[in-house]
Amino acid sequence: MTIFIPEDKVLEIRHAADIVEVVSESVLLKKTGKNYVGLCPFHSEKTPSFTVSPQKQIFYCFGCAAGGNVFSFIMKRDGISFPEAARILSRQYGINVPVQTMSKDQKRLRSEREKLLEINRQAMEFFHNNLFSAPSGKQALLYLKQRGISQETMEIFRLGYAPEGWNNINNFFNKKKIPLDIVEKAGLIVKRENKNGFYDRFRNRIIFPIFNVNMHVIGFGGRVLTDDLPKYLNSPETPIYNKSSSLYGLHRARQKCRETETIYIVEGYFDLLALHQNGIQNSVATLGTSITTDHVHILRNVIGKDGHVVLVFDSDDAGMKAALRSLGIFMNAEVDANIMLLPSGHDPDSYLFEFGYESFFDIAKSAKSLISFLIDTLIEKYGLTVEGKIRVISEMRETLASIDDSVARSLYIKELAERVGIEENALLEKVRELSFRNRSSTKRDTFFNNDFARNHRKNGFRKADKRKSFHGKWTRLEQQIISMMLQFPPVLSEIGERGILDLFEDNHLKAIGDLILAHQDCSDIKIDDVINLIEDDEERGIVASMAIGENKWDYDGCLNILNRFESIRNKKEDTLIKKIKEAEDNNNFELLSKLLSKKQKMAVLSEKKKMALLK
Ligand code: UTP
Ligand code: MN
Repeated sequence: MTIFIPEDKVLEIRHAADIVEVVSESVLLKKTGKNYVGLCPFHSEKTPSFTVSPQKQIFYCFGCAAGGNVFSFIMKRDGISFPEAARILSRQYGINVPVQTMSKDQKRLRSEREKLLEINRQAMEFFHNNLFSAPSGKQALLYLKQRGISQETMEIFRLGYAPEGWNNINNFFNKKKIPLDIVEKAGLIVKRENKNGFYDRFRNRIIFPIFNVNMHVIGFGGRVLTDDLPKYLNSPETPIYNKSSSLYGLHRARQKCRETETIYIVEGYFDLLALHQNGIQNSVATLGTSITTDHVHILRNVIGKDGHVVLVFDSDDAGMKAALRSLGIFMNAEVDANIMLLPSGHDPDSYLFEFGYESFFDIAKSAKSLISFLIDTLIEKYGLTVEGKIRVISEMRETLASIDDSVARSLYIKELAERVGIEENALLEKVRELSFRNRSSTKRDTFFNNDFARNHRKNGFRKADKRKSFHGKWTRLEQQIISMMLQFPPVLSEIGERGILDLFEDNHLKAIGDLILAHQDCSDIKIDDVINLIEDDEERGIVASMAIGENKWDYDGCLNILNRFESIRNKKEDTLIKKIKEAEDNNNFELLSKLLSKKQKMAVLSEKKKMALLK
């Protein structure tokens, strides 16, 4: 958003960058036939299933289904955005991405962002030097030592100290002739009310710089040395700091997360430091907020698709409530989330300090899945009397209803039904009521909006569509046709002319197909062009997996598949139309509305059939 890479530069970078070369920086590749293989950097494996095609300039892992082009590789490897990845490549390949091609607004945003990062960097050095060399830093240093933080940890995390007084940072930047309004924007100083000037936000506090994965300081946390309140003070939201998408410690955690496919999530700065100091570097801390969707997406990228999240909580009620809230988020992102509960009165920091990491791992071994944990806790709280059961169910109901994946949802419903000993169907009905109520508004929109199909197609990969792609049934034949399009471009014009994609049931596959048709180039396609247009990581993997196979198509074989597909689809539509007519005749409006919206999803009908329906 803030960094902008013009389209032609993206193209230039893509032509210059070679995927084999780029991947080779971090993966040992061996040539086998046309492709290269190596050990996948995104999940741990002993036999190589990570495949790179120099010809198609894409990668795909047959083990974990990660896939994409050279940009997606860097994005995934470093956990960064597209423009950031493009920038890394542009530097590496000596491509000058000029600033003047940006619009005024874009330029302003970018230079502002860079200024803020630079101010934060200087402030971090100021705080850090204070901790070690200023006389006033002595006490802070002593405090950290008393809490068991080693010198090494202080250096690694660049801990600092903001001295007492109202004007330290203020003066520091003033002397450097840096305009104070931008220092204020960084959140380091605060405007005085009714008076001119500013005062320091952080005073007499231990400072924890918060880094992003590019090692830039995006914000700070500060703790008092006493029992004063507030205990912690954090940077406000700024153009470069957003707490709901930042995780403390992530910059040091990624490597170990990949190796172990596990990440521990704690709540506090000191907890995070304690884990790292005990060798548990695969851990991060949320920054005074509960887990958000953004967090979970970041986590999923670093632990991989089959990775595990372990939430480490104190056994207080607040932790439990946070867990309840985050369950749906983890479920919908298909991330395996577990919870480990520390004995009452302990947080990860105090526990590790007192009992050491072996004992910590003993508890980690008995971590429960989030859902069993919730059920257990609620049963413990309310008991299994009739009234207790009702309360357990009513507290779980909303969480269950928010799970989009119907298979997962019914598995959990089953588990809950068994645990509280009630009829599964009865519970199912309760949850269904709620999820219907949650969704009915969107359903109506879909039904009355005639532009639905068109918009859907036009917007291709909108965020809201995502979940469908993970769970929706990717109809076999439709999938086959997309693979065919990716692997055997001569068939593209046939597919375009016959309007085959209009018959697709799966909107995602259709959108991919449309992208391919739009990007064919003299009946050839640039697969990594298509990949570039896909926002979703998982969908990129799917396209890469379909593209990486070797050509085994011939024209007649393709025509056969297309004919078969067409005739199946036409039959389906005929039956549907018959049912619609019946429902109309019987004045069964509920059924009719269902059928009509189904029909809408079945994309465009031929003119002839529309006429028959109107008659
Ligand atoms: P806790 O209150 O559990 O403190 O806050 P802690 O991390 O155990 O702190 P120590 O061990 O006493 O130093 C957990 C986290 O919630 C946020 C901070 O990120 C903190 O680490 N927090 C807490 C705030 O942002 N502000 C506060 O006033 C308190
Ligand atoms: Mn603590």
